[in-house]
Amino acid sequence: MSRPSPGLAAAAGLALAAVLALSACATESDPEAGMEAEPATRLSVSREAFGTLPDGRQVDVFTLRNGSGIVVRVIDYGGIVLSITAPDRDGNAGDVVLGYDNLDGYLAATPYFGAIIGRYGNRIGGARFTLDGATYELAANNGPNHLHGGEVGFDKVLWNGEIVDTDAGAGVRFTYTSPAGEEGYPGNLEVTVDYMLNDDNELVIDYRATSGAPTPINLTHHSYFNLAGGGDVLGHELQINADRYTPVDETLIPTGELAAVAGTPFDFTEPTPIGARIDADDEQLRRGGGYDHNFVLQRGDDGASITPDGSVSAMLLAARVTEPASGRVLEVETSEPGLQFYSGNFLDGTITGKRGEVYEHRSGFCLEPQHFPDSPNQALFPSTILRPGEVYRSRTIYRFAVQG
Ligand code: GLA
Repeated sequence: MSRPSPGLAAAAGLALAAVLALSACATESDPEAGMEAEPATRLSVSREAFGTLPDGRQVDVFTLRNGSGIVVRVIDYGGIVLSITAPDRDGNAGDVVLGYDNLDGYLAATPYFGAIIGRYGNRIGGARFTLDGATYELAANNGPNHLHGGEVGFDKVLWNGEIVDTDAGAGVRFTYTSPAGEEGYPGNLEVTVDYMLNDDNELVIDYRATSGAPTPINLTHHSYFNLAGGGDVLGHELQINADRYTPVDETLIPTGELAAVAGTPFDFTEPTPIGARIDADDEQLRRGGGYDHNFVLQRGDDGASITPDGSVSAMLLAARVTEPASGRVLEVETSEPGLQFYSGNFLDGTITGKRGEVYEHRSGFCLEPQHFPDSPNQALFPSTILRPGEVYRSRTIYRFAVQG
């Protein structure tokens, strides 16, 4: 799979603009998104109160809009994306991510819907790692392992949010200081995460961090997408730019092998329905209960996220998803070397989300750009250790389009 040519991207953009122009009058407002009757004509961002935490602190929602009818709502608690409203091929607006209607839902229980994940996205085996001769114990919050930063990860803290409004994009800058020792990690970590929406229908997420002491870091984003706006995601067609993946043990920790996807249900090098092979007789699928694996992206470089000067690695088209019925398309670009594809296997109908929708098995999928799981314990994986004087820098773009 190669990066789409600028011509193709422009054509997709034009098609979307044409659809929107033709159907502007018919476009429904999404009440959850607070859309006005008239689609926004330029990039804009606004801020309103969303709820109150048990300790009395206020949580705000930032609403990002562009001229093509994309609306992204994100809160400063967990940096959680509440909703992404995107038109289908007929111009009908629909919410393409899972989540809750209000803050209470997120406070009660959430499988990381829409959140910023840190300090370490995905698992660290045995909930411990050794760094510079010292062993650090972390919360074992996923069987014997540490998952998504621990008991109170970056998905459960209140970030400081500031509106960013430029000609190039409208969005919000979130900052958070994670103190040394938080969830067992060393070093005061200063983190900045920007969510920016632009007129190319891209939600650009930029991560930056520095630390006062060496620490592992692996930030990612955990939206559950459903481009149909409901039902399961098994008919979505997925293409992943990866010819290898990292097989896992029974507890979903990589074995260390970089296995070829060729000839296995993990071969998404050509567009393939998510459900085509998900129940195949395959040990790895059994361990994940479906897809819950890190794919090794086919980069020309190592996708380093830690550099002396804060430069960001080249962007690579990591995945493309199309939903045949709605015509919605999602493309994921990233500077990262890995992509966790999670097919919503733990969703089991026990969560009632937005608009009273029950989230059944595999009713959302996650594409989480990242460094490989358990890297702090895997010497052969690209490093995730950030040291004083270095800068952690990562970027992911979720791009929305439609196709006939
Ligand atoms: C990640 C993990 C999954 C699961 C989800 C949240 O994608 O890889 O195993 O924990 O988060 O439910």
